[in-house]
Amino acid sequence: MLTNSDPQRSGRAFSRRSFGYITSFSTTFVFLIIPPDSKDGVSAHGLAFALSSTVGFVFDAHPGPYLGLTNMKSRGNGTNQLFAVELDTIKNPQFSYIDENHVGIDVNSMVSINSHTAGYYASNGMFSPLKLASGQPMQVWVDYDGTSHNLSVSLAPYLEHKPQRPLLSSTVNLTSVLANNSFYVGFSSSTGLLKSRHYIIGWSFNTTGKAQPLNYTSLSQVIEDVRPKPQTRSHIPRAIIVLVVTISTVIVLLICAVLYALRKKARNNFEWEIEVGPPSFTYKELVSATKGFSDAMLLGEGGFGKVYKGMLQTSKQNVATKRVSPESRQGMKEFISEIMILGHLRHRNLVQLLGYSRHRNELLLVYDYMPNGSLDRFLHGQDRQDLDWVYRFNIIKGIASGLFYLH
Ligand SMILES: *[C@@H]1O[C@H](CO)[C@@H](O)[C@H](O)[C@H]1NC(C)=O
Ligand SMILES: *[C@@H]1O[C@H](CO)[C@@H](O)[C@H](O)[C@H]1NC(C)=O
Repeated sequence: MLTNSDPQRSGRAFSRRSFGYITSFSTTFVFLIIPPDSKDGVSAHGLAFALSSTVGFVFDAHPGPYLGLTNMKSRGNGTNQLFAVELDTIKNPQFSYIDENHVGIDVNSMVSINSHTAGYYASNGMFSPLKLASGQPMQVWVDYDGTSHNLSVSLAPYLEHKPQRPLLSSTVNLTSVLANNSFYVGFSSSTGLLKSRHYIIGWSFNTTGKAQPLNYTSLSQVIEDVRPKPQTRSHIPRAIIVLVVTISTVIVLLICAVLYALRKKARNNFEWEIEVGPPSFTYKELVSATKGFSDAMLLGEGGFGKVYKGMLQTSKQNVATKRVSPESRQGMKEFISEIMILGHLRHRNLVQLLGYSRHRNELLLVYDYMPNGSLDRFLHGQDRQDLDWVYRFNIIKGIASGLFYLH
């Protein structure tokens, strides 16, 4: 398991020791992406098979769109010495991705040099699309020829043969990419607002010939163990089941009718949830984190509502929770775009959005907590300090770089 269901995290598994000079290699692995508990299969963000000259990147790589491999600053930098095959379930505008379900070849950057909608070419030459976040296991093959520098990537449903025609082919000189003459090999993945689980079920890697075939018998067992269990079948007699189902159906229909009448108005507001994905925090979690939104936890009040300090019970992480006023129509629109945009962004001068929740008409945004409070206080408020111009200029530059990134 590379990521569990924590938001905005990355998880990795790399070889403990480095391999020497890169020559040819052949590798195959089976992966499984389990999207958050929803039927629409929306997931974030994805996973990647990677070769890297160092494993030092783990200290400053970011989750979300960077898949735990790079960050905003090191974008495209040759010193990264990184090669990756990404399986991405989000369309990130900043990397010009083709869609929200693609396979890409990345060199030193998350901007792919070649990419294709996930799927495979069947033996009749027809392209069959596959949904990476369907909750179904799939197999990937990556082959690199150190002489011709040809690299090919194939994808297929679990237990199907390797397709004859690869999904992606590119020419990449990995000797010049991994210029340190040694490399580590492994996997990295990340979550964003959505708390997906990413698994590598089995892996085979060879630098001296074809990758060894995987042991599908034991892999199938692992897949069964990690996948969410379907509803367990009971041994209650049929007649009783039919009776219970009939009565329940009537009750459910009645409740639905009542709820429909009550919530008809509120409903339209939540269509965006399909696009953004299910909430990342429960209302209960946030109530207990903020001591029931007590005034003692109040950090401030803005145009859209009040902001409370809180501590998440599970991770003991401090967060700031913005409670969007339900009466503000404008606030609701702004809120939706805030989730859609900020969830994909990551910059040291922007407060990180960790997730969201909703409760009836109330909408809650969860951000990183800034222990030193608002800059405003230092410039104009009680804690006002005589800041020199070097300091002020740095603040201005920081704000400008955040704005520039946003634009
Ligand atoms: C690439 O990264 C190195 C080391 O972090 C840095 O010194 C250099 O300025 C970066 N180059 C570019 C073009 O960003
Ligand atoms: C590949 O890169 C290496 C190292 O930069 C270089 O010596 C070699 O000539 C390159 N090969 C080709 C075919 O460009």
